Amino acid sequence: MCGIVGMIGTQPVAPLLVDALKRLEYRGYDSAGVATLSNGQLDRRRAEGKLANLENQLLLSPLEGEIGIGHTRWATHGAPTQNNAHPHFCDGIAVVHNGIIENFSEIRDQLKARGADFSTETDTEVVAHLLASLVKNGMTPPEAMRATLNLIRGAYALAVMFRSEPDRIFCARNGPPLAVGHGSGEMFVGSDAIALSPFTDEITYLEDGDWAVVTHDGLEITNSEGAAVERPRSRAATTHAQVDKGNHKHFMEKEIYEQPEVISHTLAHYIDFSAATIRNVPAGMDFERIHSLKIAACGTAYFAGMIGKTWFERYARLPVEIDVASEFRYREMPLSENEAALVVSQSGETADTLASLRYCHDHGLKIGSIVNVRESTIARESDVVFPTLAGPEIGVASTKALSCQLAVFAALAIAAARARGTLATDEEQILIRALSEAPRIAGEVLNEIEPQMVELSREIARHTHVLYLGRGTNFTLAMEGALKLKEISYIHAEGYAAGELKHGPIALIDEHMPVIVIAPNDRYFEKTMSNMQEVAARGGRIIFITDRSGAAACDLPTLQTIILPDVHEMIAPLIFLLPVQLLAYHTAVFMGTDVDQPRNLAKSVTVE
Ligand code: M6R
Repeated sequence: MCGIVGMIGTQPVAPLLVDALKRLEYRGYDSAGVATLSNGQLDRRRAEGKLANLENQLLLSPLEGEIGIGHTRWATHGAPTQNNAHPHFCDGIAVVHNGIIENFSEIRDQLKARGADFSTETDTEVVAHLLASLVKNGMTPPEAMRATLNLIRGAYALAVMFRSEPDRIFCARNGPPLAVGHGSGEMFVGSDAIALSPFTDEITYLEDGDWAVVTHDGLEITNSEGAAVERPRSRAATTHAQVDKGNHKHFMEKEIYEQPEVISHTLAHYIDFSAATIRNVPAGMDFERIHSLKIAACGTAYFAGMIGKTWFERYARLPVEIDVASEFRYREMPLSENEAALVVSQSGETADTLASLRYCHDHGLKIGSIVNVRESTIARESDVVFPTLAGPEIGVASTKALSCQLAVFAALAIAAARARGTLATDEEQILIRALSEAPRIAGEVLNEIEPQMVELSREIARHTHVLYLGRGTNFTLAMEGALKLKEISYIHAEGYAAGELKHGPIALIDEHMPVIVIAPNDRYFEKTMSNMQEVAARGGRIIFITDRSGAAACDLPTLQTIILPDVHEMIAPLIFLLPVQLLAYHTAVFMGTDVDQPRNLAKSVTVE
């Protein structure tokens, strides 16, 4: 989604703004721009496409000024053209915006009727025009800001400069996050702390409904009721070094290979392996008391929730209802105080997940969240936060966040089982021992299977459709595999429950259809073998991802068999996830797509 930066500095800010925007590239964008204020004049450079295009413009025609704002745009209203790129100008006012102004057409019509001349297709431009018309009618910039925020509806983060206010950036938040960074004699604004990490780690997050005036020396915040407020200043955990690609070609590759380490960090946070017990699970979720658990999440985080559901139900005998958050929020489901809710999100800012959290909160449920960004809105609005320790995930395709979410779910399911008395101590210890082996096995598997996955990706890249099949948690991995493949390689893929094959998708099978079957030798193995027979009988090209005992038990012809070690079923999702991720990654590399920032996608989806 769009990224916002702003700076009041002591040196020319344009190159620094671009540097900060580069740190927001991971969010996804299709055009970019910066504006500065110098000698009483606002000026801007904007470009379609990548930040390199904006940098070229700035090289040909540099911008002066020690105060400025910048933006990466992810198009919602209007094509991703230079003209629609932010900052938008109107009569000495510059605006950058993340989110959607829902009543923009109504405001635009009113302003047009009064003679305003709009030059873009964006919703954002109404903010610049509205501010300009209010200032023209005699309001001061702060008054115009307050009045504008009362008139616009929707989700937004805004940063605004007024030509008449050479030492101030105005900003506001209602939905998408906005961080203000504190320097010494200089101040910064950014969509997240990562953007500001080279400049400062002292961060104040605006809350929903806040607007603020940022100067060289600090900031003044006003809340939605018009009262001056202080918001806590915290030290961001994100450091400059953590957002490097290291020796890897892409962030996604780096993040796949970081998994053994981050799974280990996450597990170590929740499990005391020497005592073989769960720790750091606050009592707030009342696992022993509740009758059921609701889970809401989007995309890959939703798949983490599906596997979590399996574990909660199997080990803790706790019924779980799970929904994609965009459906959850509108289902109007009855909720009772005998339930609790768990939301899952890497970014902690996903609009639908946040709305689901608020729905549950309004119905009196205790809210737990599994989040990677600890300072995020979802974390701050939860009763209990279960952090994943994945570190910043930059690639749009979620990889290490998922494995860490699974690690947290595993620990929570065991904690819930203990609280509910559904797991004998020796069974609990077997699960914990299995989890302790996961990081090492993941590391070995990544190294062993990579050459095979590279080779296989060449074959997959020749196809336009791919089917993934699995049962149980491997059905979830089939869906995750299909999501990963389509989002970064743009090859159409579907993940199906293997048992559903004959209820429709079998019609697709012929000698051209690659069918990736994920089937370790677990409780479902024989059933999945029957489904594989059905594929083989129709000439489908089977790629079989299994374990050693599964490979030994299978005598069907396959195009390729990827053999992983035999592992305990609790850690199987953490291990069988790896070939699925590597296959998508190498296929995308082979196809030459933009792996870390695939087209049309955003890392942090702050609009519904
Ligand atoms: O930040 P979140 O975990 O809430 O994001 C949810 C989805 O947008 C995300 O998992 C998305 O599906 C990924 N691009 C998948 O790789």
